[in-house]
Amino acid sequence: MTDAAAETRLLLVCLGNICRSPAGEAVMRARAEAAGLPIAVDSAGTGDWHAGEPPDRRMQAAARARGLDLSTLRARQVRAEDFHAFDLILAMDRANLAALRRLRPDGARAELALVLDHAPEPGPAEVPDPYGGGPEGFEHVLDLLEAAADGVIDRLRRA
Ligand code: 4NP
Repeated sequence: MTDAAAETRLLLVCLGNICRSPAGEAVMRARAEAAGLPIAVDSAGTGDWHAGEPPDRRMQAAARARGLDLSTLRARQVRAEDFHAFDLILAMDRANLAALRRLRPDGARAELALVLDHAPEPGPAEVPDPYGGGPEGFEHVLDLLEAAADGVIDRLRRA
C-alpha cells in the first residue's frame, strides 16, 4: 500500500494540456510505478481552450505505441489551488513557466521548474510544442519526457 504521507505530488504543465503535459503525466506515472516510488501525478494547461477534451489523437497514438494509454485523461486549466496542492510543478517551456510564475499565489508551497531541468545534460531546455508539426514532433516530445522522468525519479529518491 502507498504511504500517503510520503507521496510527492507532481503537476506537469503545458499550454493546452492535450499534447505534452498529458504525455508527461503518463510517462511519469508509469516510470514511478516501475521504480516503486510513491507519487501522485496530474497535468494541466495554462490555457483553457481544450478544457474537458481528451489528449490530441496524434499524441495518444504515439504514446500508445510506447505502452501508454492517454485515453482517459481530460484537459483542465491550472488553478490557484494547484500551487498549494502540489509539491513540484514542472513546465514544458519557458512561456509556461512564466505564466505559472504570474499565477502563483503568495505563500504557495509548490516549487516551479522546467521539466527538462531534470533531464541529463547536454540537451534542450524546453519540450517543444508539437501541435502544429508532423509526427516526428510527438516522438521527440516522448523521448524528452522519458529522459526527464528518469531524472525526476532520481531526484525524488535522493530527497
Ligand atoms: P500542448 O500543445 O501545450 O502540448 O498541449 C498545444 C495544444 C493546443 C494548442 C497549443 C499547444 N492550441 O493553441 O490550441
